[in-house]
Amino acid sequence: MSLVMVMVIVIISLFIPAVRPSQDLWRLECLPTVGIVAETTVINCNFKDIQEIKIEGVSLKKITENKPLFTFFEETNSGDPRFGLKNPALGPSLQISDTKFSDEGEYLYYVLTDTGEKKVQLRITITAKYKNPISSTWPKDVTDGGTVDLYCNATDGYPAGFIHWFDRSGTNWTMNSDLTKATNDTNGLKSVALSSKLTFKSINLNLGPFRCIVLNSKYVQDGESTLQITSARDGSDKESSITSNTTHIVAGVMVIGSLIVGLLCALLIFRKKNVQHDRRPSAHPFLSYESGSTAEGDLESDNTP
Ligand SMILES: *[C@@H]1O[C@H](CO)[C@@H](O)[C@H](O)[C@H]1NC(C)=O
Ligand SMILES: *[C@@H]1O[C@H](CO)[C@@H](O)[C@H](O)[C@H]1NC(C)=O
Repeated sequence: MSLVMVMVIVIISLFIPAVRPSQDLWRLECLPTVGIVAETTVINCNFKDIQEIKIEGVSLKKITENKPLFTFFEETNSGDPRFGLKNPALGPSLQISDTKFSDEGEYLYYVLTDTGEKKVQLRITITAKYKNPISSTWPKDVTDGGTVDLYCNATDGYPAGFIHWFDRSGTNWTMNSDLTKATNDTNGLKSVALSSKLTFKSINLNLGPFRCIVLNSKYVQDGESTLQITSARDGSDKESSITSNTTHIVAGVMVIGSLIVGLLCALLIFRKKNVQHDRRPSAHPFLSYESGSTAEGDLESDNTP
């Protein structure tokens, strides 16, 4: 009897592929993903070679861990709340909100459907965008034909990117520049500070303004900065206008300040006079309060004949 049962099971299991050919014909595919820190990352996944298919559950785990970090079964998410299916009705694509550096890695993605189950390995890389670049010249005021260093700095990006230089006419000066990269890693928060220096032994001021373009590690632009070059003459004009502005502001503050002080003095004198005036008739009901208030007040009232 049990032998018959075993034979039946063996025969059935042999026939399963024939009965459900779709199990092996369709595929689950996920594209490699590059996420940006603090933004929402979509992991694009698709069912291939099948039209009618319904997701019944999924689970996602890091390849290095045993427990899944996210699951979706019976219409319910559990695990890390930043993870979810983008739209279970449309497909197996995943999304991560508020992406973190720790999300980087290899994952094993398991999908259970009404036509069988599939597993796929997927990779997530995390990058961080470079903040608005800051450009400057050294020295601050440049003389035509003089020596100058142009700087363009960008911070908080990851991984290391690039800085390219262009002049007013669009000529590419990047070849002449020198890029330094300083990598920082504090508590898993990785960032790179980029600083590019473009040196001119003899600058032609008509080349300006310069533009520096900050690119991420994939050569996608993260930001740009326009660098106006102030000639030494313009610069000194500007500086004097700034100082004269400051003098005006200081003068204004002094006038307003002395006005306020004068007003306060007038108010104090006025009040003192009033207090002395009003004291006699109303002194009795407030005597206990007044004696406790100011020693000066007591002295004054004692001295009055
Ligand atoms: C840019 O970085 C360079 C080198 O670290 C530094 O000398 C320069 O002052 C920086 N410029 C600005 C505007 O932060
Ligand atoms: C500018 O020059 C750099 C370095 O030679 C190069 O990598 C980059 O592609 C150039 N950019 C353009 C827009 O030509």
